[in-house]
Amino acid sequence: MTTSRRSLLAGAAAMAAAPMVSRAQSAAPAALKDLAAAKGLIFGSAVNARQVRSDPAYRQILQRECGALVCENETKWVALRPDAARFDFTDADVIAAYASAQGMALRGHTLLWHHPQWFPDWLTGYDFGARPAAEAERILADHIRRVCAHYPQVFSWDVINETVDADTGELRETSLSRAMGQGVLDLAFHTAREAAPHAQLVYNDYMSWEAGHEKHRAGVLRLLEGFKARGVPIDALGVQSHIGSGNSDDSVGFDTAQEREWRRFLDEVVGLGLDLMITEFDVHDKNLPVDIPTRDAAVADLGKRYLDLMLAYEQTRAVMCWGMVDRSSWLQGNWLRADRLPKRPTPYDAEDRPKPLRAAIAAALAAAPVRASLQLPGANG
Ligand code: G3I
Repeated sequence: MTTSRRSLLAGAAAMAAAPMVSRAQSAAPAALKDLAAAKGLIFGSAVNARQVRSDPAYRQILQRECGALVCENETKWVALRPDAARFDFTDADVIAAYASAQGMALRGHTLLWHHPQWFPDWLTGYDFGARPAAEAERILADHIRRVCAHYPQVFSWDVINETVDADTGELRETSLSRAMGQGVLDLAFHTAREAAPHAQLVYNDYMSWEAGHEKHRAGVLRLLEGFKARGVPIDALGVQSHIGSGNSDDSVGFDTAQEREWRRFLDEVVGLGLDLMITEFDVHDKNLPVDIPTRDAAVADLGKRYLDLMLAYEQTRAVMCWGMVDRSSWLQGNWLRADRLPKRPTPYDAEDRPKPLRAAIAAALAAAPVRASLQLPGANG
């Protein structure tokens, strides 16, 4: 591990552990990043560049609570790659610079969202020429090398995101896999290991504990087993953790958790020698009743139950929320509630006040067993 990377992480940990000084602060509840750090965990959130640029109230919450940030959209191909020739790091740089200035660590999402819906149009329609496999390899490896080199401080990369079809458990096809086969996935991990030798390398997906995710879980497990059997350099499974109501169905979704099957799945994953990362935690209240205290209590209860289970695994290294405030959650614009009311899926409400979910996260972190802090691959003492 290089000195600069070690000091970045040490700086983030030191900031997280710094004692509170003023009277106002001493009355405040312990920061989530401090509660996490005391257990060897990282706590953080996704954020977008607009919020960093122009939302000081949100920045205050991030600075108080988070030891790490991840770009919600800005390091995806659609954002970084206007075309086959160019890279545009403008928005992602805003978040990276902010994290660095605040002493926060940076996660990376994602080197390849291997899902045709989320490819840039130019890549979907790309002419791979007479030697398609070689051209696909060149494009992918070049992208991963350039992005990893631009953000050497990233301690954990979602190398591949969501390549398992949730309905069938089979691997998704894209223009890249049609050109070079499913070796595209292995190539991404091998290239990432070369380009970011000290970063944790993650496969990230939204298989979850609710009923209906059985094929998705089985498909992800098959993929991970294949990676390990082929010696692919993967360190962890990113468990996105968008829990709660289903998106497109009308079930409440708060009572369908298959805990036994979920533990069996996690046992298999850690049995492969992989760590677990909670990468995109939120609790969808789409089908909960209108009454806010009732809704918030149900969200907090489910969140606590889920985090207690996940944090009981000492292989769980981080809890990253997919946004800290309700007003900017990605869920507001998707799958609306029948009553059209704003949703309440994150730790802070629309007026930036902490909610029961914030208390539930704090309680789960406080109750979690201590574990060794994330050991970064390649770290040599
Ligand atoms: O920035 C453009 C804006 O210029 C344009 O006017 C507007 C019109 O629709 O679109 C804006 O871009 C949107 C972008 O979010 C920023 O708000 C895209 O349409 C929209 O598709 C995009 O959605 C993001 C989605 O991933 C797709 O990239 C969500 O914010 C983001 O939360 C979501 O995150 C995903 C993870 O990457 C993977 N796991 C699931 C998670 C939730 O879907």
